Amino acid sequence: MGFLDKVLGRTTTTEEEKTMSKLNIGIILGSTRQGRLSPQVGEWVQSVANQRGDANYEIVDIADFKLPLLGEVDATPQATAWNEKLASLDGFVFIVQEYNHSITASLKNALDYARDAWNNKAAGIVSYGSVGGARAAEHLRGILGELSVADVRVHPALSLFTDFENGTVFKPADLHLTNVNGMLDQVVAWSGALKVLR
Ligand SMILES: Cc1cc2nc3c(=O)[nH]c(=O)nc-3n(C[C@H](O)[C@H](O)[C@H](O)COP(=O)(O)O)c2cc1C
Repeated sequence: MGFLDKVLGRTTTTEEEKTMSKLNIGIILGSTRQGRLSPQVGEWVQSVANQRGDANYEIVDIADFKLPLLGEVDATPQATAWNEKLASLDGFVFIVQEYNHSITASLKNALDYARDAWNNKAAGIVSYGSVGGARAAEHLRGILGELSVADVRVHPALSLFTDFENGTVFKPADLHLTNVNGMLDQVVAWSGALKVLR
């Protein structure tokens, strides 16, 4: 029962009010190259997340924001749109792929484009690569610390060899479902808890 219900003496809430009172969690696609695998992974995470009904989950595609390399040219409109999108979110799930043992240049660039809009929010990481994208995920954790993003412990790590047919078609092993839900449990809990600081 929300504040409005009490004021209006109501015993039910509308669907619109339920959606508005939920946390907004962005599922950020970390790669932007043509032929990338990240949309398949992001859509799978979103489909698992949507079945929970505990938050509003949306895909946030860095590619849509056309961010040039930071500082190279005046990119005020792109930077503003990116910051507004991040500001509208309470928490994040990063879809992370391993490039040369780290995150992609496009994700690092997008992280650098904002500061306040990241602060005091929670994040989960879903990574992939030859060893589950583990090295990229650990690099991202270091960056998130500097941006005051609280990264949660549970970390689904997908293998390019066993979770992608022929390295291209995403077919996750069953065990990852448990991990994705465990990660989302923590992201939702921490995103809500950190609200008092925002
Ligand atoms: C420039 C580059 C470097 C890569 N380096 C690694 C690496 O160090 N470790 C690894 O496991 N995979 C590496 N890969 C393989 C990628 O993880 C794999 O291609 C993955 O699909 C990339 O994500 P994307 O399809 O969303 O772009 C690399 C791929 C590229 C393009």
